[in-house]
Amino acid sequence: MSTKKIPLNERIIVALDVEDPVLAKEMVQKCESHVTFYKVGLQLFMADWFNIVDWIVDRGHKVMLDLKFFDIPETVKLAVEQVNSRGVTYATIHGNDPIIRAAVEARGDMQLLAVTVLTSFGEEDLRAMGMTQSVEDLVAFRARRALELGCDGVVSSGLEAGKIRSDLGDKLLIVTPGIRPGANIETLADDQKRIVTAGSAIGDGANHVVVGRPITKADDPVRVIEMMQEEITSIA
Ligand code: C5P
Repeated sequence: MSTKKIPLNERIIVALDVEDPVLAKEMVQKCESHVTFYKVGLQLFMADWFNIVDWIVDRGHKVMLDLKFFDIPETVKLAVEQVNSRGVTYATIHGNDPIIRAAVEARGDMQLLAVTVLTSFGEEDLRAMGMTQSVEDLVAFRARRALELGCDGVVSSGLEAGKIRSDLGDKLLIVTPGIRPGANIETLADDQKRIVTAGSAIGDGANHVVVGRPITKADDPVRVIEMMQEEITSIA
């Protein structure tokens, strides 16, 4: 996987985390002069299935389908086969070896992103699951396995993007959620724990940032996009 130069209007992937396809379409229409990449996650997909994916793709935009498949390998393979002819650019799976193997086999022309550790997870959440590794080590381990098993990229927080890039070079795409605007970064964290700004994520080696609430809940989403794109331009 080559992480070639990515146009500015594909650097931010707007997460359409809304309950209704009408709202999603309004958001795309507000943002599309500046952004041509949208994430459809569980909430919106449950509301409109592939209709919203088809609508976004038909408008000439790219889609990251973020359903984070996690199941027995055969089920993951069959689910990926349901997606691979829909014009989706990135699809997400959980970054466990058998899941990655099954998904890679079935991906067709799509690119697969393995979730390393959810950005809402902190050290204490790993401890509560009985895991002794640090988040950073677990992310680094899963990113290496994703690359070895033929995955195209990983989803990881901005705090780990730099280590993944320096460990693994340019072969893996890095897509980073948990992005907040520079001002008041901590107070705007919501349920995210490992947050950074768009500029620092891209500066540390992320190829794209995924941004939901800071854009979708803003009074002026385009202004937030412009501010983040200015940060990215000054760094990339
Ligand atoms: O609103 P916010 O910017 O926090 O949204 C982040 C989006 O990225 C959500 O749609 C969430 O599901 C997704 N995501 C994440 N952490 C991951 C993978 C995806 O926050 N590791």
